[in-house]
Amino acid sequence: MSILLIEDTIPLAEVYMEYLQDENAEINHVTTGEEAFSYLSGHSPQIILLDMNLPDADGMDILKYVSDTGMKCCVIVITGYGSVSRVVDAMRLGAFEYLQKPFDQGRLVLTVRNAMERMYLRQMVDSYKSQFGITEYHGMLGSSNVMQKVYDTIENVAPSSATVFITGESGTGKELCAQAIHDISTRGHREMVILNCSAIPKDLMESEIFGHVKGAFTGAIADRQGAAQRADGGTLFLDEIAEMDINLQSKLLRLIQSGTYQQVGNAKTCTVDIRYICATNRDPLKMVEEGRFREDLYYRLNVIPLKLPSLRERGRDKLEIALNFLRKFSKEEGKNFKNYSPRLEDVILRHNWPGNIRQLQNIIRNVVVLNEGEVVKLEMLPKDFLDSLIDDENHIGSAFRDSNVTEKKPDVQTIRPLREIEQQVIEEAIKICEGNISRAATYLDINPSTIYRKLKSWPKKELN
Ligand SMILES: Nc1ncnc2c1ncn2[C@@H]1O[C@H](COP(=O)(O)OP(=O)(O)OP(=O)(O)O)[C@@H](O)[C@H]1O
Ligand SMILES: [Mg+2]
Repeated sequence: MSILLIEDTIPLAEVYMEYLQDENAEINHVTTGEEAFSYLSGHSPQIILLDMNLPDADGMDILKYVSDTGMKCCVIVITGYGSVSRVVDAMRLGAFEYLQKPFDQGRLVLTVRNAMERMYLRQMVDSYKSQFGITEYHGMLGSSNVMQKVYDTIENVAPSSATVFITGESGTGKELCAQAIHDISTRGHREMVILNCSAIPKDLMESEIFGHVKGAFTGAIADRQGAAQRADGGTLFLDEIAEMDINLQSKLLRLIQSGTYQQVGNAKTCTVDIRYICATNRDPLKMVEEGRFREDLYYRLNVIPLKLPSLRERGRDKLEIALNFLRKFSKEEGKNFKNYSPRLEDVILRHNWPGNIRQLQNIIRNVVVLNEGEVVKLEMLPKDFLDSLIDDENHIGSAFRDSNVTEKKPDVQTIRPLREIEQQVIEEAIKICEGNISRAATYLDINPSTIYRKLKSWPKKELN
């Protein structure tokens, strides 16, 4: 392993290097931001120990550089006492951990070892991925660029105790994502306690979180542990957090800020150590503006925001996930389905999937249970889904209408050269994205450079 130490106070740097002398790592030391940038332009250290206060640069700029260049390394930031907001910003920019001055040898060695282990695991995963084309990450299928970014964020935030705020439309995998963060965190051997804030009646919620003692209210016939106590040492996943009653929000804020709470009907203060993950399919900032969500709680929870892309933004993942579900459900139901007809593949790729992965999953399960065969055809889809396609004002509707429910027999006359189709698809995407190439590239799930290269190779023509 190679470590770059960026620290302007030379006696401190010497102490750190001495602390780390028994670790299996080569340490290089620079004292200024300028030296750091010049070193990083020619080397890729696996770990960076970064003092955030440098004489000539802001540590944040170095973090940004590491993140923008996609450098594969763990950055451990070193901050002065009391710079909590800087730590939060640094973690958002992808820092792996932070060390607050002064720290002892044990803390430094442990943090560096954790970072080494992370880098080692990441290298292993990368090499497996390239060997076997693995596209599943902790139960999440898909290898689109947008999902790779999600996996990277999970990898970066999981080891810390920072609160993660997951947003995303219904059915995009928020719970799956929370579970992945918990599982690979240092708390993974403990339970992740899930509390669904929309499923529990308002007046029972307080006792659900904090527990109660016998006789605290009518119906409290025995002492009961709350989610906070069960999650002690582990993770508390607050699902559908936006639905939480505003009065209870202040009690939750106190728990998060102080790590203490009181059971309903009990004056004794309990202390807990909890990692929080929360999720919502609403726009939390809008709820803050409307006065339905406490602003202070929002900022306390939104330390690491993680937005899950909708299924329609995931390019060819749609087909990959659909095929995976088809094979899995066929096996479970003792059926022989192996593939989708080309027309249905087209529908899967072009439909806007308002219910996201959950909707795709339900439809495929329904098809597998109710039909027989090897190839799934369009007409096997549930009737209300087919109706929604016709209602759609997009070309899927018309393609489907033209097919008159049964599929046309394939004919060589209909086959067009791939490059022609590719050009058409790319041009259409650029047009829809109003000429914004990088946006078009995101939706096409390719690199913008690929589009630029292709545009150059085609005969000149107006794009709009
Ligand atoms: N990337 C994925 N690959 C495979 N299955 C997935 C993926 N994402 C989600 N799922 C599956 O889709 C279903 C919905 O996921 P999940 O419950 O995590 O979504 P959610 O965002 O919490 O939805 P809601 O807002 O409705 O609560 C689950 O059965 C989950 O296993
Ligand atoms: Mg959910």
